Amino acid sequence: MAPSVAHDDVQVQPASPVSNKSRTIPEIKKSVQGLTQSASFPAPLTYSGSLDHYESFDVTSVIGREYPKVQLTEILKDDAKIRDLAITVSQRGVVFFRNQDIGIEDQKILGQKLGELTGKPATSKLHKHALSNSKRGIAVDENGKLDDEVSVISSEQNRKYYQGRFFGAKRVASEGWHADITFERVPSDYAILKIIKTPEDVGGDTLWASGYEAFDRLSPVWQRFAETLTATHHQPNFNKVAAEHDLELIDEERGAPENKGLDFTASHPVVRTNPVTGWKSLFGAGHQVHAGWIDNVTETESEVIKAYFNKLIAENHDLQVRFKWNTNDLAIWDNRSVFHTATNDYDGKRQGNRVVSLGEKPYYNPASKSRREALFGLA
Ligand code: SIN
Repeated sequence: MAPSVAHDDVQVQPASPVSNKSRTIPEIKKSVQGLTQSASFPAPLTYSGSLDHYESFDVTSVIGREYPKVQLTEILKDDAKIRDLAITVSQRGVVFFRNQDIGIEDQKILGQKLGELTGKPATSKLHKHALSNSKRGIAVDENGKLDDEVSVISSEQNRKYYQGRFFGAKRVASEGWHADITFERVPSDYAILKIIKTPEDVGGDTLWASGYEAFDRLSPVWQRFAETLTATHHQPNFNKVAAEHDLELIDEERGAPENKGLDFTASHPVVRTNPVTGWKSLFGAGHQVHAGWIDNVTETESEVIKAYFNKLIAENHDLQVRFKWNTNDLAIWDNRSVFHTATNDYDGKRQGNRVVSLGEKPYYNPASKSRREALFGLA
């Protein structure tokens, strides 16, 4: 069912690409129908059990699993295990590994394999971040290697480019919730972050929130409404930072042929089906939708909807998990179905290597189930 738009002269938010022209009602109806029209959708994947003999525990009931003793380098060449790892990450949202010896080349191989072994398009490779790339001159290993396919997470660089977000800042920390690079037309499936330097003082934890559970918290009426929506994700900060600091951005293919240009704007379904689990997840929320909008509704409606979706993520601590890093700890998450936020509560230096792989163009399959429906038979 299309969202109700009462009058033909109502000014509605356009879907991306950015345009000042409000769209007509027939155009909007066509776009909403387009959300669910697809010849076929992939079937969810089945976990084979190949990781069951490794010690593990679920960190909360809803999100997060830790394998305290596994070295990823020991399972990297075993495709059955890596496929099961990808399925586990997609089911649990985020998976943690302690004190990893994996180097950056193997971290990249793992990033690409997780998606390849679970059916991602052949044209989707590792993402090249428009701003956090080799041009910033931060090495990804001890040999001084620079690499566009690795985003170095550096407290020093972030403090330079994003003043006002850090230690002692007067701001609402929950503004930081996001999924990686959702402003790309082909966004991320998996991300792998290895923290190689923890702050000398204390802090720098990362939190993740389950988009599956956020969808399950909606009433059935709001679930049906949200399933009809698309949202335009937008990241204005890169152009702003580039202009302020005279930096060059990557504007050619950023890991997939569709990801080019400097508008950093893409419209995606608000409720997205994760192809690996087949579960519905709230996707149209977080920082990049905050800077964007809900398509085809009025500006006021867009603000109300965005605020509610953000509240679901930020105010439900029982759909979040918080991870305290030690040196060389590593997290893998599924950007299709979790949001995350860094905690900028430290004064020291923190650094890590993040590999972000690209997945499929987001879609919504009306026949897909919510996580609670699939696991517990609950609506
Ligand atoms: C990220 O946003 O991907 C990085 C998270 C972190 O630095 O904790």
